[in-house]
Amino acid sequence: MTEQNGTIESHPVHHGEVAETYPPNAEFKAQARVNDPSVYWRAAQDPEGYWADEATNLQWTKPFTEILDWSNPPFAKWFADGELNVSVNCLDRHVAAGLGDRVAIHFEGEPGDARSITYAELTHEVKRAANMLTSLGVTAGDRVALYMPMIPETVISMLAVARLGAAHSVVFGGFSAESLRARIDDAEAELVITADGGYRKSRVSALKPTVDDALALHGGGSTVQKVLVVERTKNDVTMEPGRDLWWHEEITAYDGDHEAQGFPAENPLFILYTSGTTGKPKGILHTSGGYLTQVSTTHRNVFDLKPETDVYWCTADIGWITGHSYVVYGPLANGATQVIYEGTPETPTWGRWWEIIQKYGVSIFYTAPTAIRSFMKIGRQVPEQYDLSSIRVLGSVGEPINPEAWRWYREVIGAGSAPIVDTWWQTETGAMMIAPLPGLTHLKPGSAQAPLPGISATVADDDGNPVSNGQGGLLVVQRPWPAMVRTIWGDDERFKETYWEKFGDRYFAGDGARLDEDGDLWLLGRVDDVMNVSGHRLSTAEIESALIENHAVAESAVVGADDPTTGQAVVAFCVLKESYLTDHVNTEGLDQELRVFVGKQIGAIARPRNVYIVAELPKTRSGKIMRRLLKDIAEGKEIGDTSTLADTMVMSTIQDQVIGKK
Ligand code: WT7
Repeated sequence: MTEQNGTIESHPVHHGEVAETYPPNAEFKAQARVNDPSVYWRAAQDPEGYWADEATNLQWTKPFTEILDWSNPPFAKWFADGELNVSVNCLDRHVAAGLGDRVAIHFEGEPGDARSITYAELTHEVKRAANMLTSLGVTAGDRVALYMPMIPETVISMLAVARLGAAHSVVFGGFSAESLRARIDDAEAELVITADGGYRKSRVSALKPTVDDALALHGGGSTVQKVLVVERTKNDVTMEPGRDLWWHEEITAYDGDHEAQGFPAENPLFILYTSGTTGKPKGILHTSGGYLTQVSTTHRNVFDLKPETDVYWCTADIGWITGHSYVVYGPLANGATQVIYEGTPETPTWGRWWEIIQKYGVSIFYTAPTAIRSFMKIGRQVPEQYDLSSIRVLGSVGEPINPEAWRWYREVIGAGSAPIVDTWWQTETGAMMIAPLPGLTHLKPGSAQAPLPGISATVADDDGNPVSNGQGGLLVVQRPWPAMVRTIWGDDERFKETYWEKFGDRYFAGDGARLDEDGDLWLLGRVDDVMNVSGHRLSTAEIESALIENHAVAESAVVGADDPTTGQAVVAFCVLKESYLTDHVNTEGLDQELRVFVGKQIGAIARPRNVYIVAELPKTRSGKIMRRLLKDIAEGKEIGDTSTLADTMVMSTIQDQVIGKK
């Protein structure tokens, strides 16, 4: 590949498709933090040495002498004899370096309230909060659950918990009382931090009442002793005496003196639950030193961060891994200035995000393909009304970005010149794994391209052999990486089975992938029963179990059907109970009822796009539901091979029932 300034080179990739490549322009390359291609092979020679060098960018209270301990796979330890305080690395050390006056967070509330918080102020608030949590009994090794809107107190709480050596478990504010309770119970959290509510779509979205409901479930007895409530929306809430406390009342008793202690590098930092192939979410455990090393390194290198001048904005909610790694820990460890926005992109108008970029001069912008596709639908005339000239790097995460959305993003948001970094990673990987480096990579729309320096990932066939260029297979990570999941909380066996059984001591990611003729990596989506809706992971099994909780439903099958905006959409097929059918001649409206029911059971993100009531589900002779055939129906495609069905007629019956509904 030759380097041609700002021009597009074209060459065939496969099946006669043509993928264009976009080399970095000379000006960008010259100023880039990483612009020497030898970084790849140098890191490949000695990956552990590479990560050890990166780890020394952090401040250790006790320096490490060990790098990787892989003596007991798949349980990795990184920098195990070192000690550090994660919160100090994100705060105090920047203040000590004279950067206290730098803005850490430009907070923009949905109603338009705004406040900018410097590193000195953030450090002060976290110290006070740490003192408050200490007097509420939080100590190293404890778990604290957070159920919060996107406000500065969420960041403050996470850093205060981390400062004490305790672990947080953030539960996304869109999850139901049931889902929240399951996560509280699994982690045995003794404290919940929440808010009265947050602002979403010009309305108050209440949070505290859901915490009350969660704690009242299953007869009320839970591990939770105290609930700390931030006042944000002033909606009516009930405060249970002895259990519930207002943050703003409690905090007044505490000053900003707090001497933080170092904790071992493998001290748990957080648990974050994610959907798997069974109904029960997995508590992904991340620890301290390796995690902070990889999130900070990737945040600097992949976004070409210049903390003195850049204004960074990642639109992810803190309730997801992207919010943990690239709103909280990566940017703050790097001393970056960032925007945090509370609300939704269309409130009050579809111009809101672009207005925020203009207002703060955002230079690095990180969002999801599903958002880009929504903006495409509304049209370029909206962003074109704003001055987006501050933007110099664009990022994408959560699902493959289709080339059409890639080009629109680059042209309309990135003035036709900003590099786009398509970052592949997962809750389990903790940090980015496969992504371009904007000063080096010849970008290809739709491809995440190459493993980052220090990461060894490839595409393998079913037997674990690497495939050649031009072929597809399964994505495998070949060597341990610093930010990797350490286990599934409380379930080492499930951890081994889920990720390590297939390929021995190599990590099976659950994604299909393909190498093109140049050896660039293309992600092809999940190969298991996990769906990806708007960049969020949902489990078919979890939604199926929610549906059969309903008194009308006997059996259900859920599939992720291709959707032009959300990537995939949840489509459910339900067989009703005989007893229900005897009592109800007319099932009109039941599909809507079931959609709402799933939303209540799990959370609005899991609400199916369609629920089809059918007489039967397609099954093999051994009784296995053939979801693949249901997916064809949901996508309006020709139905695939039905020869293994016990009853081949069932598909035409289902199709008639679905078409009758459309
Ligand atoms: C799954 C992980 C990474 C934080 C957000 C989602 C899919 C993620 C990409 C990408 C293609 C992607 C994969 C992965 N995915 N990023 N750039 N290109 N696919 O985290 O909920 O843990 O989901 O999201 O299928 O396995 P998550």
